[in-house]
Amino acid sequence: MTELGPVAWPPAPIRTERLVLREPEARDRAAFIELFASPEVGTYLGGPRPRDELERAVPEVPGRRPGLFVIELDGAVIGTIELNRRDAEHRSHVRPDAGEAELGYLLLPEAWGRGYAAEACAAALGWFADALPGEPVVLCTQTANDRSMRLAAKLGFTEVQRFEEWGAEQWFGVWSSVTPSG
Ligand SMILES: CC(C)(COP(=O)(O)OP(=O)(O)OC[C@H]1O[C@@H](n2cnc3c(N)ncnc32)[C@H](O)[C@@H]1OP(=O)(O)O)[C@@H](O)C(=O)NCCC(=O)NCCS
Repeated sequence: MTELGPVAWPPAPIRTERLVLREPEARDRAAFIELFASPEVGTYLGGPRPRDELERAVPEVPGRRPGLFVIELDGAVIGTIELNRRDAEHRSHVRPDAGEAELGYLLLPEAWGRGYAAEACAAALGWFADALPGEPVVLCTQTANDRSMRLAAKLGFTEVQRFEEWGAEQWFGVWSSVTPSG
C-alpha cells in the first residue's frame, strides 16, 4: 500500500460532539474482527470474512497505519475511518500523476442511522485538509449501497464517474476542501 504522505502520525485524538477518532490499539482487535465478519458491513464489500480466518490473520494491533482511525463512542469502538492512497492500478483522471487519497468507512450495524458516520467522516476530512492542504479526496462506492451514497452526498462529494466493476455499478466521487473561485 502506498503511504499517505508527509503527515504527522498519530495526531492527538480528535473529539467531535459525540465521538473520538484515534489511532487503533491492541484492545480494538475484537472490534476489527466484528467489522470484517459482519454480513451487513460486508454486503457491498465482497461479503463477510470467516471469523476463524480473521482470528488468525488480524494482527495484535490492527490497522496501524497513517490515516486509519477507530471511531469511539462512549469508550467503545463502533467503526473505522480510513484515508489512504490508491494503488497505481486504481488511479483515475482526478489526479493521474499520483495515487489519490481515498476515504473509506466501516461502522458496526448497531451504530448505523444516528449520524455517527457523517460526524466521524467530517472530522477525518477536516484532519486531512489540515495535514495536506488543498489535496482532493476521492471515494468509491457501489451505487446499490444507499447508505454510503447518502453519506457521500452529505459530506460534499460530487460525482466524477460511474463504472462497472466486480459485477456491480460503482460510483466514484471527489471532495475538496478548497472552494472553487469564480
Ligand atoms: C456506509 C455507512 C457508514 C453509513 O452509515 P449511516 O449510519 O447510515 O450514515 P450517517 O452517519 O450519515 O447516518 C445517517 C442516518 O442517521 C440519521 N440520524 C439520526 N440521528 C442523527 C443525527 N443526530 N445527526 C445526523 N443524522 C442522524 C439520519 O437521518 C440518517 O438516516 P437515514 O439513513 O435513514 O436517512 C454504514 O452503512 C456502513 O458502515 N456500511 C457498511 C460499510 C460500507 O458499505 N462502507 C462503504 C465503503 S465505500
